[in-house]
Amino acid sequence: MFISDCLGINDKGNLTIGGCDTLELVQRYATPLYVMDEQQLREHCRQYRSSIEKYYGGNGLVAYASKSFCCKAVCRLAMEEGLGLDVVSGGELYTAMSVGFPAQRIFFHGNNKTPQELTEALEYGVGQIVVDNLTELELLNQLAKSQERVARILLRVKPGIDAHTHNFIRTGQIDSKFGLALETGEAMQAVKAAAALDWVQLVGLHCHIGSQIFDIAPFEETARVMLRFMAQIREETGLELTMLNLGGGFGIQYLPEHDPKPYETYMDGVSRTVHSECEKLGMKIPFIVIEPGRSVSGPAGITLYRVGSVKEIPGVRTYVSVDGGMTDNPRYALYQAEYEMLVANKASQPKTQKVTVAGKCCESGDLLGENIPLQQAVPGDVLAVLATGAYNYSMSSNYNRLPKPPVVFVRDGKARVVVKRETLEDLIRNDCE
Ligand code: LLP
Repeated sequence: MFISDCLGINDKGNLTIGGCDTLELVQRYATPLYVMDEQQLREHCRQYRSSIEKYYGGNGLVAYASKSFCCKAVCRLAMEEGLGLDVVSGGELYTAMSVGFPAQRIFFHGNNKTPQELTEALEYGVGQIVVDNLTELELLNQLAKSQERVARILLRVKPGIDAHTHNFIRTGQIDSKFGLALETGEAMQAVKAAAALDWVQLVGLHCHIGSQIFDIAPFEETARVMLRFMAQIREETGLELTMLNLGGGFGIQYLPEHDPKPYETYMDGVSRTVHSECEKLGMKIPFIVIEPGRSVSGPAGITLYRVGSVKEIPGVRTYVSVDGGMTDNPRYALYQAEYEMLVANKASQPKTQKVTVAGKCCESGDLLGENIPLQQAVPGDVLAVLATGAYNYSMSSNYNRLPKPPVVFVRDGKARVVVKRETLEDLIRNDCE
């Protein structure tokens, strides 16, 4: 009945998540509130892991893209589930290291890593630094030399694949700030440059074509293009790369009409391509890495808000305002991303109106959605926005000096805070005068 398996309705007619009554959660922790179903997070990790196991045997790894939702608890969870980790900043790396994440299983991404970040990555012994460009390649070689340790690297390649998704979250095409283009010869140039350097060891390639992608074909095509490039590298340089990181980007269901394929279908399709292409090219199957973020964390989360004012503008629209907004979920403002919503304390009632859900920021564009089918909402109701586990908490801000909401993990009817609510004191903590 719901887009997410962890949700239900109890006999009071209230929305539940992970066996917890959402009304009790807001009574205990107040609003706005991020709630994540721990069991579902773990399920997603396990499903990915077992499909990598099934299609590539021990010769693969699932690296959770921590940018989608990063805090100590989730890094620890990914570690416990035997995943690797994709980090993209010194901050994400620090969070991972603070829980003792095994550095060899970390992939460090980014189109403009600072010398400081690269130095830290080397000191931690990060297993794979994903080099984005020639400047970084040189810099990393120098830093590795000064530390006298060889950096294991992948090169980020733009495979030139257009995966139909929102422009801002599309990255595989030539006009992208990420990576080295194949078409222009830049990628091959970087391979040769890396091979000639003493303090970097090129072990493989990385690509990521975008996010929230439903089609399987672009992923298959990407695998094909990347493997052919690996064969071309072998031909031109004699170098046999052993690792291929195919990135993340698998779409999830935000609305009832969305129909993402199960991971299994994606893994099956891509692994067929990998196996047949390797056979054609006479290549050993490389160690395959995938980096799902949204599809691990997204469906496991919801956000709960308290409804404040309800403003009906006759003949125009009804604004239902909540006590959060673009500060805890900027995705509608940024990408017109759509969400399913419901009044948590009227979960079993029919949705009889269409409303605009607005946040409390001093900004007209601070909306969480328009034309949202909703139960009759009145001040004091609790509004639930579904599938907010990815790119909500991780993209939150303090605009208008709103403190960030806490994150609560729920499991088997029990709840615990994994990230505390920010306080007003937190907001002025770094102000010097
Ligand atoms: N690997 C790399 C190198 C990436 O850049 C990304 C996402 C992922 C993996 C994970 O992709 P996922 O499986 O989560 O789609 N803020 C945007 C999404 C930006 C994605 C950036 N890179 C949003 O809210 O939709």
